[in-house]
Amino acid sequence: MADSAAATAGPSACLTETDFYRDVIQGLRKTPRSIPPKHFYDKEGSRLFEAICEQPEYYPTRTEMLLLERHASEIAGLTEPGCFLIEPGSGNCRKARLLLDTLLPDTYIPIDISREHLQTAADNLATANPWLSVHPICADITDTLELPFIPEEKQRLLFYPGSSIGNFEPDDARVFLANLARIAGDGGALLIGVDLQKDTQQLHAAYNDASGVTAAFNLNLLRRINRELDADLDIDAFDHLAFYNARKNRIEMHLVCNHRQTFHVDGHHFELDAGEHIHTENSYKYTLVQFQELAMAAGFSTRRVWTDADILFSLHYLEVC
Ligand code: AVJ
Repeated sequence: MADSAAATAGPSACLTETDFYRDVIQGLRKTPRSIPPKHFYDKEGSRLFEAICEQPEYYPTRTEMLLLERHASEIAGLTEPGCFLIEPGSGNCRKARLLLDTLLPDTYIPIDISREHLQTAADNLATANPWLSVHPICADITDTLELPFIPEEKQRLLFYPGSSIGNFEPDDARVFLANLARIAGDGGALLIGVDLQKDTQQLHAAYNDASGVTAAFNLNLLRRINRELDADLDIDAFDHLAFYNARKNRIEMHLVCNHRQTFHVDGHHFELDAGEHIHTENSYKYTLVQFQELAMAAGFSTRRVWTDADILFSLHYLEVC
């Protein structure tokens, strides 16, 4: 019987109003102003992110899914049968589905910050795969994760697709990967998707889709602040801005205030001048070599790397050293 009641890893591990509240108030007071991208993913934000993944300009999702389909057997060949498949930031669990039938893990552990989304995704997956034990955990993966209930003798394969690693500053990415290496433990592995440096035009298009879905996703952060934090931001006063910062090898997303305004968040007063930015996301892009060096510094050795014919996206199978 598949177990799919989302557990919470520790009392403060699930995103509470307080995390969002604190990050918004502190972030709006900083210079430059910034709010961490993990707060994009309320119910509407998760829905908009899934719509981004369907946009023709947004190549990462479809390219990575192709790589997973194409190389599932080889991935299974590198992994012990009956492993525990653990996915931090699992979202809709769509990518794990591509591996399950070939990998045949004993247990799948999706971990996500968005409780409702996690529960639905885990329930659907458990229903579709009655042979699989599904054990969802609602947690903020940037907090310390502990998975004490996994039997010692089972191999752990961590799965971190989508180039979510790109949201971390490179130093923080190394620390996060080292933490994944610790969770994977001796004999464990990490299958990770990493977006690659490429032509600026193509990167720009992927974060400025013609249908405006990425813009809506970015602006939804402000709507969420109004909805949840008793705020009165004028959403129409902001524009979506996304560009490639070639010096730092990252896409940056900002919300740009197009005319001076004052607003309140739970009684706290703020003033934004015309042209002021709120920085909402960085999405770092790597070369294959840069990423392998990062993985090595975090305690992994590269067993195998796959890319598509256009070298847009990469999938790395890393083993704990
Ligand atoms: C989920 C962080 C991988 O950076 O491409 C997509 C998020 N932001 N479009 C990315 C995102 C705007 C995405 N990651």
